[in-house]
Amino acid sequence: MASSGGVNRNVCVTGAGGFIASWLVKLLLSKGYVVHGTVRDPGSQKYEHLVKLEKASENLTLFKADILNYESVYSAIVGCSAVFHVACPVPSTVVHNPEVEVIEPAVKGTTNVLEACLKANVERVVFVSSIAAVLINPNLPKDKVIDESFWSDKDYCKKTKNWYCFAKTEAEEQAFNFAKRTGLRMASICPSLVLGPILQSTTNASSLFLIKLLKGDDSLENRQRWIVDVRDLVNALILAYESHEEGRYICTSHTFTTQDLADKLKSIYPNYKYPINYTEVAEYKMLSSEYTMLSSEKLQNLGWKFRPIEETLVDSIESYKKAGLLESE
Ligand SMILES: NC(=O)c1ccc[n+]([C@@H]2O[C@H](COP(=O)([O-])OP(=O)(O)OC[C@H]3O[C@@H](n4cnc5c(N)ncnc54)[C@H](OP(=O)(O)O)[C@@H]3O)[C@@H](O)[C@H]2O)c1
Repeated sequence: MASSGGVNRNVCVTGAGGFIASWLVKLLLSKGYVVHGTVRDPGSQKYEHLVKLEKASENLTLFKADILNYESVYSAIVGCSAVFHVACPVPSTVVHNPEVEVIEPAVKGTTNVLEACLKANVERVVFVSSIAAVLINPNLPKDKVIDESFWSDKDYCKKTKNWYCFAKTEAEEQAFNFAKRTGLRMASICPSLVLGPILQSTTNASSLFLIKLLKGDDSLENRQRWIVDVRDLVNALILAYESHEEGRYICTSHTFTTQDLADKLKSIYPNYKYPINYTEVAEYKMLSSEYTMLSSEKLQNLGWKFRPIEETLVDSIESYKKAGLLESE
């Protein structure tokens, strides 16, 4: 077990090969942490980027674990002082079997991770939730800044078949109930749409959103988007951990409609195709008709800062090109 001045520097990251988790692993390694990363298929080429990270050879161990299998999760967590629970399916297409594809891994997966943390005497958990657990509520006030006291309405999520939002809300609620009942110390971070350069070689749901925009996909909804850079998000996750924070933190930096975002991109990359038409979706009208003000003030009060949107967009697009996911203009 690595220690510095008697402090256990071993931490676990669930779903280590994903978009956000890969950046988290990179930053943790650069800060001298010893990282246990859980992956479902350790032999797979899709985790090559993790093995190549600086200090990975000394300080990164990949554990085969499915968050639906408690024993496998426990084996990865034991000996760690902190767990960053990031793993969760993020669907980019229609979900046909919500229970199996999203709800069970989000909710049961989170319970397994928290139970393993308790048994392994983990000091603190940082849970990656989402603004999907904050905003999906028809009764959201229009005249108020939305902060951490707001929660998505689970019945409304079900009624509108918004399974990912339902699952994230249920998972976060159950996680806080678990923490309250057992005394486990937990902070949850609720990021908005996460963009920024990819370390992995494949797309994930949020990078796919930007790629579709650049390919002129007309199926995109012209609704309000709150955006945060993946590098700023992982700074927030580590900040919350290192400042011993508990409770909920919204993590977002910039607000655009889809069309305004496309215009911003067009001013930097004029030669991509971009959508001509956008889809209007009834259930989002409440969010798209005017700007809902979402606040990260609580996080900013801890000293959190974010970069300009132009940097996020340029670095994202250059990384997609480098990974062969997007042609040059
Ligand atoms: N991207 C966004 O815009 C955004 C916004 C708000 C919140 N979030 C949250 O951020 C987290 C990461 O998202 P991401 O964008 O980085 O997604 P991602 O790239 O698709 O990564 C998801 C990760 O979850 C893992 N996973 C899924 N089911 C699992 C299971 N049963 N057992 C173990 N691991 C499992 C996957 O592991 P494998 O490698 O084994 O497939 C993958 O590493 C999620 O909790 C998501 O809800 C994302």
